[in-house]
Amino acid sequence: MKQTICYLLALLSMVGCGGGGSSTTTTTNYADQPNLRDVSPVPLGVALGVGDFETKSSIRYSANAENYQALAAKEFNSVVAENVMKPEFIHPQENEYFWDDADYLVDFAKANNMQVHGHTLIWYQTLPNWMQNYSGDWEQMMIDHITTIVSHYSDSISSWDVLNEAFQDDGTERTSIWQQHIPDYIAKAFSAARTADPDADLYYNDYNLASAPAKLNAVLEMASDFKTRNIPIDGIGFQMHIDSNSPNLSQLRTAFSKAVATGLKIRISEMDVVMNPDGAYTGYASNIATQEHDRFKQVVALYLELVPLAQRGGITFWGLADNLSWIPNYYKHADWPLLFDSKLQRKAAWTGVYEALTEN
Ligand code: XIL
Repeated sequence: MKQTICYLLALLSMVGCGGGGSSTTTTTNYADQPNLRDVSPVPLGVALGVGDFETKSSIRYSANAENYQALAAKEFNSVVAENVMKPEFIHPQENEYFWDDADYLVDFAKANNMQVHGHTLIWYQTLPNWMQNYSGDWEQMMIDHITTIVSHYSDSISSWDVLNEAFQDDGTERTSIWQQHIPDYIAKAFSAARTADPDADLYYNDYNLASAPAKLNAVLEMASDFKTRNIPIDGIGFQMHIDSNSPNLSQLRTAFSKAVATGLKIRISEMDVVMNPDGAYTGYASNIATQEHDRFKQVVALYLELVPLAQRGGITFWGLADNLSWIPNYYKHADWPLLFDSKLQRKAAWTGVYEALTEN
């Protein structure tokens, strides 16, 4: 019964029922509006669970897999693996790659005319044990890892996060197994990826690029150093795990403008908005709907305003629906950071994105 009422309310006024509370937004009824992928001037993506360990979100193994696939293919024209292309999952043993889940995502994307963005070749996290304990030739091991994965997907993946989160917020290089064992590892990783697939766009991806200017500066210095040394790089990914206030629009404007000035492509690569940072809300209240609408709209509009067409790598949201988001697990309380509620209905955040894409 509650489900039916929520569904009817959602149709009438874009109410989100996922958080357990009730709310209305003041905006128009957008339930019958076109799908985002059909109105978007940029590739519009979503991160999807695929593996059997992604119990709730998997588009392959979860109880709701069919519904997730239908919604993802309806609204988006680009996908990212939320986890299954990370080293721990795709390269579990030194001489063993596990392609099955990642291939499944690629096939799903092909069948639905969607692009695939690869995430992520090199990261300090989510590493298999064998890599963490490796005692051989580290540089060769990293190059083999990158070459094997990028080559496997050279016909189906057109852009990659080569390096994820290599700098700290203060602009210093993050300590990692890669950084400890391989001099100049970032440049070597990008060069290996270019050799493996000369046509793929190669991205550096990180969080807090707008709220931590020292980190963005470090990334921009790296890009300019790469230019001098003829090391390939095509783009910068702004993860955009943000909350409703920080970074503010002026910080975002400065950061996008600086990044655009490099001439590189720019992606919003993992957007979600924490609406309940200190856990004060137990349910999805009406002021949350208004705030998320405005926040998503402003960030997407700013991206479209500041990033010229030729430099737009696209916008990807980090998950399909609120109940599948990593945010509640990470912050250990309820949150509503995405475009769809747990009934897979469009929320006020969806409306904000729709408006930004269509009013531009
Ligand atoms: C997160 C996934 O969403 C979770 O399912 C997983 O448990 C941990 O990683 N930055 C990234 C992403 O680049 O890969 C992270 O994804 C979120 C932060």
